[in-house]
Amino acid sequence: MNNISQLIFLLGGTGAVAEKLKIKPSAISNWKKLNKIPNNKREAVLKLSTHLDLDIDNFLTSNKEHDAKIKILLIICGGIASYKSLEIIRLIRKTDIELDVVLTKSAQKFITPLLVTSLNEKKCYTDLFSVEDETKMNHIKLARKPDIILVAPTTANVMAKLACGLADDLASTILLASFSKIILAPSMNPVMWNNSATRENYKKLLDRGIEFIEPDKGEMACGEEGIGRFPDPKLIFDYILSYINKNQTLNNQLKGISILVTAGPTIENIDPIRFMSNQSSGKQGFEIASELTRRGAKVTLITGPVNIPYPNCENIIRVKTAKEMLDNVNKQLPADILICSAAVADWKLIPKTSSNKKIDMNKKIKKNNDNLLFETIKNPDILETIANSTLRPKIVIGFSAETNNLKKNAYYKLVSKNIDLIIANDVSNAKVFGEDFNEVLLIDKFNCEKWEKQSKKSVAFHLANKINNLLINYNQRDIDA
Ligand SMILES: Cc1cc2nc3c(=O)[nH]c(=O)nc-3n(C[C@H](O)[C@H](O)[C@H](O)COP(=O)(O)O)c2cc1C
Repeated sequence: MNNISQLIFLLGGTGAVAEKLKIKPSAISNWKKLNKIPNNKREAVLKLSTHLDLDIDNFLTSNKEHDAKIKILLIICGGIASYKSLEIIRLIRKTDIELDVVLTKSAQKFITPLLVTSLNEKKCYTDLFSVEDETKMNHIKLARKPDIILVAPTTANVMAKLACGLADDLASTILLASFSKIILAPSMNPVMWNNSATRENYKKLLDRGIEFIEPDKGEMACGEEGIGRFPDPKLIFDYILSYINKNQTLNNQLKGISILVTAGPTIENIDPIRFMSNQSSGKQGFEIASELTRRGAKVTLITGPVNIPYPNCENIIRVKTAKEMLDNVNKQLPADILICSAAVADWKLIPKTSSNKKIDMNKKIKKNNDNLLFETIKNPDILETIANSTLRPKIVIGFSAETNNLKKNAYYKLVSKNIDLIIANDVSNAKVFGEDFNEVLLIDKFNCEKWEKQSKKSVAFHLANKINNLLINYNQRDIDA
């Protein structure tokens, strides 16, 4: 039970407080869900609480973490249910949530920006190419500001555009340029909903971590029956509130924990043009850095050269070689946790002529050296070095990409390098690199769990849960000792 729920309980429950304050019980339920009392009701609640033998101020001020307002961007698409989203605006406006609204061009055939502006008491955004908006609140800022983007109703068209990565208007551009949680509430004719194109898009979006508030079954405005009805706006609103509530707990789960994450490949130059590297895309490490940041950890990401967008985390350090990566990990110590997901090049290659003479690596190697030889020089093993150093983080986690004997090789790595947890994947088909999915074994000294094929985002989510449990066990061991 959160502290506002406790306070309401002590004051006689939702019904009693609502009656005394002459407001609807649903408003009190929202305070409980958000663990927050709106500023304009604080005084009244304090007065009601004077008889309680409690430090009431503490109840209210311990909400400080939640004072940073939740920000929602509501995108309304051009469906028959567009007008129902006006009720969602009205319900959100009753809370402390900061709301921005975008209307697609088609949505404006059903409801007007003026109507939305008067309900939300602020500008309603409609245009990607607006000189005025671009200077004050450009489309990237609009995409980055919200914690949640709710698309309600979502048309079949916007689902398709998002699945394909199209960005031809303000709504679709924001959806592509955002790090926020995206929640779609689709509504459409049942035949459109069941069309295999929509089914495929639905699956694609689910796999990317986009959440759906499923449409209801029933009679549609067009007279046909089936799945596709827009759910009751109050249900959508409640869904969003419970999502916020659930995440406020998660968001602070790793607060105060410092985590170093390495990601991507490293590269070793052979001459100024050529290099040796590997196929790591950095995706899994970036997802991990992003999820741990979302949970409140202080994350430093040390990454080799990649071709994917950087995640939203506090500190990002770009490196090229294994040595640079090790030096930078060392510089960032001490830290509570180290996660080595980078595929570090194991060797440097030193080019030599066929008669074993060194070649100047600072100049482009000429083709007249037909039979080049390469001397291998072993790179430092970052995981092993840090796991056995005096500044060893409490928890050290490694990755193991293997083509054979996955479990055995990964377990050997875990024990021989003195690490706490290994995430092992089979790369015999080279299908892991650059993909959005991963199928892994999670191995510690006592257990081996198989995590079925899932998105790299989902692996990151479950790994963050695991890390939280490891920290709890670790702290418990400290108390017991
Ligand atoms: C009267 C009317 C009602 C419509 N209702 C829906 C609907 O409920 N769901 C849907 O996906 N498309 C619906 N459409 C089709 C969309 O308006 C159309 O696909 C449009 O391109 C969507 O644009 P948007 O996705 O940018 O908002 C409707 C069209 C009309 C004319």
